[in-house]
Amino acid sequence: MFRSHTCGELRIEDIGCDVVLSGWIQTVRDLGSIAFADLRDRYGITQLYFNESIHAQLVSTPIGREFVVQAKGKVIERTNKNSKIPTGSIEIELSDFEVLNSSSTPPFTIEDDTDGGDELRMKYRYLDLRRPVLRKNLELRYRVNRSVRNYLDTQGFWDIETPFLIRSTPEGARDFVVPSRMNEGQFYALPQSPQTFKQLLMVSGYDRYYQIVKCFRDEDLRADRQPEFTQVDCEMSFVEQEDILQTFEGLFKHVFYDVKGVRIEDSFPRITWDDAMWFYGNDKPDIRFGMQIANLKTPVYNTTVTDALGWDVFGFSVFDNAQTVLAIAATGCAEYTRKQVDELTEWVKRPQIGMSGLVYIRCNADGSFKSSVDKFFSEDQLKVIAAKCGAAAGDLVLLLAGNETRTRKAMSELRLEMGNRLGFRDASVYKPLWVIDFPLFEHDEENDVWLARHHPFTSPKPEHISLMDDRSQYGKIKANAYDIVLNGTEIGGGSIRIYHRDLQEKMFAALGLSKEESQDKFGFLLGAFEYGAPPHGGIAFGFDRLCALLGGQETIRDFIAFPKNNAGRDVMLDAPSAIDDAQKKELGL
Ligand code: AMO
Repeated sequence: MFRSHTCGELRIEDIGCDVVLSGWIQTVRDLGSIAFADLRDRYGITQLYFNESIHAQLVSTPIGREFVVQAKGKVIERTNKNSKIPTGSIEIELSDFEVLNSSSTPPFTIEDDTDGGDELRMKYRYLDLRRPVLRKNLELRYRVNRSVRNYLDTQGFWDIETPFLIRSTPEGARDFVVPSRMNEGQFYALPQSPQTFKQLLMVSGYDRYYQIVKCFRDEDLRADRQPEFTQVDCEMSFVEQEDILQTFEGLFKHVFYDVKGVRIEDSFPRITWDDAMWFYGNDKPDIRFGMQIANLKTPVYNTTVTDALGWDVFGFSVFDNAQTVLAIAATGCAEYTRKQVDELTEWVKRPQIGMSGLVYIRCNADGSFKSSVDKFFSEDQLKVIAAKCGAAAGDLVLLLAGNETRTRKAMSELRLEMGNRLGFRDASVYKPLWVIDFPLFEHDEENDVWLARHHPFTSPKPEHISLMDDRSQYGKIKANAYDIVLNGTEIGGGSIRIYHRDLQEKMFAALGLSKEESQDKFGFLLGAFEYGAPPHGGIAFGFDRLCALLGGQETIRDFIAFPKNNAGRDVMLDAPSAIDDAQKKELGL
């Protein structure tokens, strides 16, 4: 028997018990005639006490950090209790111990606050994973996984596996490809998602499918992106958008409660894509705080919302010459010093943000207004602008003007930055929402082509299908597509699908595919649509992102056991790597 208990288990009630523990040595404190050591395993840490009679054994068999040790002894009460750990009231007075394996000195400290840099931690990931923070993250991931499965099981979903060696699936990224030895010169693609397979399963009649599945996308990496990541991928038949939103809102409520004890009673807010862009400047709004964007000039892209000021001219050339003028009221920042405002101006001028300047209006506590553009605006006009942003006395209105796309993006970033600075983006607060009514297409200006905004299998809204006959109308077509957003991160997206061959062909044609190309790439799906495809739709969640957010972080890397670094490398395996000539030859490369 290697152990009678784990290192996280023993309490004051166990005093007097004879126990055997096995684990890793975290620290040793040798006091000359007696010694203490901390023994760690997945469950916790227990203090070992080497009394005078066993100390000689320690001298002849020294133990060091990360040695694997089996310890035998009696549970006794600790004199110096440690209230920070659950086992902190007891220690094990050793009668015997055995070194099961020695360890080289680890390259960084195996503690929550480690001295190891990112690359080093990744290289020795198996040691990094011993750190309690990472252990907690992986435990959370496991619990989210189990909670998702339990909920979907109660809703009648079946977990069905789909292949990894497939043909390209268009999800907007590049494919990872795998050469085929048996079919020289030909390649499989790894799935960017199981999209077409889950649709085929609907045609087969498996009307509630899910899978917690790896997806592979060769795209530029960010904090919330990995080249291989995990989706909770779901599909349902005989459903409308509303059925899907209800089912998966239920899933999120279940998981939040199950894993975090957070009960969300209300329905998740819903916002159209147009409104998300209008009021937040992006399609994944963080609604943990207000500070919505005020649109002071109607931009060209959206003529349906006309809540601008209605001024023909501002009398200030920067605003008059700009396509767009946007403003937010930064809560309680009227007293920002000159230095703080200058620093913020430099912030918007950074290349990543790309603005040429920042205008501000101080809404003073005494009801007066003072701005950086006092020369051009009367106090009454400043008051109108401030009112438009919903600014209260004490707020600082921040204005950006310029090209529509850039300015909207910059204002979205500025709003988030101010949210951070003001402490409004509390990671322990969960504010999910649905973004609905996405455009079906997006225009690629550079190549003057229309791309599928979600993917080519997404259905246009029935009332917009007729617009598909006129290319000039593509920008107006909305889709039955939706995203779920949590705290400013897109954690899932899906759509109601096309399920008629002719509409699917029309969609491929709109995307610039010839009849032959559509047949060549998607003949299997078009063919399946001829054999009684049911109405269907679905959604996929970014499982890594969901876990990271539930763990209070935006970076997904430490919620994945063996992730890639920012350059897409596994530094532990040193992959990707070259292959030898013989292997290349065999693969026909
Ligand atoms: P989509 O491409 O929106 O939809 O992906 C669904 C969700 O997966 C997550 N995600 C990622 N997470 C980590 N790293 C990445 N590189 C990455 N890329 C995406 C996001 C995203 O919301 N087949 C469709 C779903 C459907 O229509 O049912 C799809 O894959 O959280």
